[in-house]
Amino acid sequence: MIFEPITVCDLNIRNRFVRSATHEWLADENGCPTSKIGDIYEELAKNEVGLIITGYSYVNPRGRSSDNQQGIYDDSFIEPYQDITSRVHKYKSKIVIQIVHGGRQAKPSTKYPIPIAPSAVTDSSSGITPIEMTESDILETIEDFANAARRAKEAGFDGVQLHCAHGFLLSNFISPYTNQRNDRWGGSVEKRTQIVVEIIKRIRKMVDEDFPIMVKLNATDGFDDKSKKIGLDAPECIDIAKILEQNGICAIEVSGGISEAGEVMSRPGIDNPEKEAYFKQYSKAIKEAVNIPIILVGGVRSRTMMESLINDGYADMVSMSRPFIREPDLVMKLKSGESEQVSCVSCNRCFDLNGVKCNYP
Ligand SMILES: Cc1cc2nc3c(=O)[nH]c(=O)nc-3n(C[C@H](O)[C@H](O)[C@H](O)COP(=O)(O)O)c2cc1C
Ligand code: SF4
Repeated sequence: MIFEPITVCDLNIRNRFVRSATHEWLADENGCPTSKIGDIYEELAKNEVGLIITGYSYVNPRGRSSDNQQGIYDDSFIEPYQDITSRVHKYKSKIVIQIVHGGRQAKPSTKYPIPIAPSAVTDSSSGITPIEMTESDILETIEDFANAARRAKEAGFDGVQLHCAHGFLLSNFISPYTNQRNDRWGGSVEKRTQIVVEIIKRIRKMVDEDFPIMVKLNATDGFDDKSKKIGLDAPECIDIAKILEQNGICAIEVSGGISEAGEVMSRPGIDNPEKEAYFKQYSKAIKEAVNIPIILVGGVRSRTMMESLINDGYADMVSMSRPFIREPDLVMKLKSGESEQVSCVSCNRCFDLNGVKCNYP
């Protein structure tokens, strides 16, 4: 099954492999992508990764979270992105850009010393208390996401993925922990998801009706019981997935974790089958509740697990980040039978500010 094609968002994808969004620290200081980013994607495409999702790309300068992060907030970036998408499209792979606003986890800068978020809830991992967004901040942000999608389409991307995971702005809105508003943008699950719905509507107006819009969704914020913090978790993530489907999202990648909850997103030490695919119960529950393709990320490490995830109804596609950093030719190795297991040991030394790479011997 993992080598069988699939149609996702009307895109014919050659197999079930997704390269999950992975920040590369390889844009210039203004967020303009460099050819080194294109080198990585071309290598993945050459090695038959069906769907490549770019590193998180900020929709306005206030939404930047990291040094050398790529942006998509200016029309002058369309051309460099066109170079990248055309390099990928020489092969049979598809490429989608992940668009984000850093929200509560934006990096303070001279111009924007304090991040903005739905509510002023202090982040205990950074000590930062964000400023509560005004109505006009929210409306401007919706517009910025829509303009980012317009640029993505012009740059030749096959779609966009709205980053609704990992503690960034849209994830801040959908979580009851970081969204404590009681206006039309907070409270019930529907209201907390409303900003995403408005972004979808605005993209539909600005870009043509069938431009694929996917979502990377936090199924859980990842707090353990000891923290006594109540974040997003099941069953609410299932309600959110249903709302997204009803509003035209055509694929959901299931993930989890926010900075404040620790190493939830990229869990270290995945060294036996029990630790693999650590969000799989969430993806199964979401898959049972909606009729759009579900992509599962997080600790997928063996061919046996990949096959089982697809065959046993946990997901339609399997997504990986760290394994592809270490082995860009992983799909080819699995296909030829050269390998049954990824060689990444989940040590997290690839979070490298000088440019993403595997730093494990
Ligand atoms: C170096 C690095 C950068 C990442 N950057 C992003 C990102 O830009 N956007 C995102 O949604 N997730 C990002 N992630 C998380 C991964 O996409 C993925 O969800 C997580 O690592 C779990 O998958 P894995 O076990 O296959 O690595 C990053 C992970 C790593 C290791
Ligand atoms: S440094 Fe290498 S082995 Fe360690 S998690 Fe990253 S890709 Fe895997």
